[in-house]
Amino acid sequence: MRLLVCGGAGFIGSNFVRQRVGEHGDEVVVLDKLTYAGRPENLRDVEHVFVHGAIEDPAAVADALEHGVEAVVNFAAETHVDRSISGPEAFLRTQMDGTYVLLEAARERGLRYVQVSTDEVYGSIEEGSFTEASPLNPSSPYSATKTGADLLVTSYVHTYAVNASICRGSNAYGPRQYPEKLIPLMILNALHGDPLPVYGDGLQVRNWLYVEDFARGIGHVLQHGQAGAVYNVGGPDEATNLDVVRRIIALTGATEDLIEHVTDRPGHDRRYSLASDKIRALGWQAQVRFDQGLEHTVAWYRENTWWWEPIRSGEYRAYYERQYGRALG
Ligand code: NAD
Ligand code: TYD
Repeated sequence: MRLLVCGGAGFIGSNFVRQRVGEHGDEVVVLDKLTYAGRPENLRDVEHVFVHGAIEDPAAVADALEHGVEAVVNFAAETHVDRSISGPEAFLRTQMDGTYVLLEAARERGLRYVQVSTDEVYGSIEEGSFTEASPLNPSSPYSATKTGADLLVTSYVHTYAVNASICRGSNAYGPRQYPEKLIPLMILNALHGDPLPVYGDGLQVRNWLYVEDFARGIGHVLQHGQAGAVYNVGGPDEATNLDVVRRIIALTGATEDLIEHVTDRPGHDRRYSLASDKIRALGWQAQVRFDQGLEHTVAWYRENTWWWEPIRSGEYRAYYERQYGRALG
């Protein structure tokens, strides 16, 4: 297939591009704005055409589509909940304006479209798991703008018969994740002997999905999903944040006295959990259990200092100081 992958220089997008080119022989054009989270080096070993631009810029989208593609897969987003709390504006521009521009392009050209979305659109659940029919109840500017984008996609299916599907993943982890997110942040801090900042009591629960399983699920939806349908892609295991941090301590050889309970995130969702029966019926299933994926992820960060050293010595330090009120060691 010939694909336009928006946000392909980020964590999940680059894993997806690597899979599609390496395992499916797809030809891929990547359109990416290269925000702090977008890194061309994520794709340095993968053959692709790169277009530098924003999805909310119709001229950049038209340029990218000049290469002739059959489908658009949209990963491009502002993705960090804490940043959405301190500065929501960029989230609105990318999620809302950007998705609108891409949908218009798909409508004009009759392209297949897949929107990459998140379990956070359903909000928090104390027991049981969300299905695709569960009500949408987002609680942060991040999840609210992701929900807005999902609703716009659905409206383009119903109103203009755009051939679009939505894929909602649970918390992803694995190589090449920017260290503002829980798992890579804790791994790098543990390796450096820095404090491990746990929000509140640390008993919040997330449903962990290895990045390659998520990427494969998105490919499955691209090829086999129905127009207008939503597919949940949940990980095989749930864990509290404290449990995740303790496993990382064990894998890095750090000590528990590094754990520091810090002020909780405002509006913090307690638990996310997805039922994934619908995508399983399409033939997908998660292959990587949390223990195995976490071990591999820790090993990857240990071995790939070239990837994270420029991040930890750059703008990230200032972000960290603002977010945690203390300097990185
Ligand atoms: P990321 O932050 O690592 O990467 C986002 C990428 O999008 C970056 O390359 C960035 O430069 C690019 N981008 C941002 N704004 C853009 C714009 N306006 N135009 C073009 N490119 C832009 O994110 P990720 O973790 O890889 O997430 C990818 C997608 O998956 C997002 O849509 C996110 O909501 C969704 N998702 C993520 C998770 C998770 O746990 N990380 C879980 C479920 C769903
Ligand atoms: P995060 O990786 O930001 O993903 P999300 O908020 O999208 O689920 O956070 C995962 C969980 O870890 C969430 O409950 C917040 C918590 N957390 C901490 O306790 N400390 C931290 O420093 C970070 C970044 C997250």
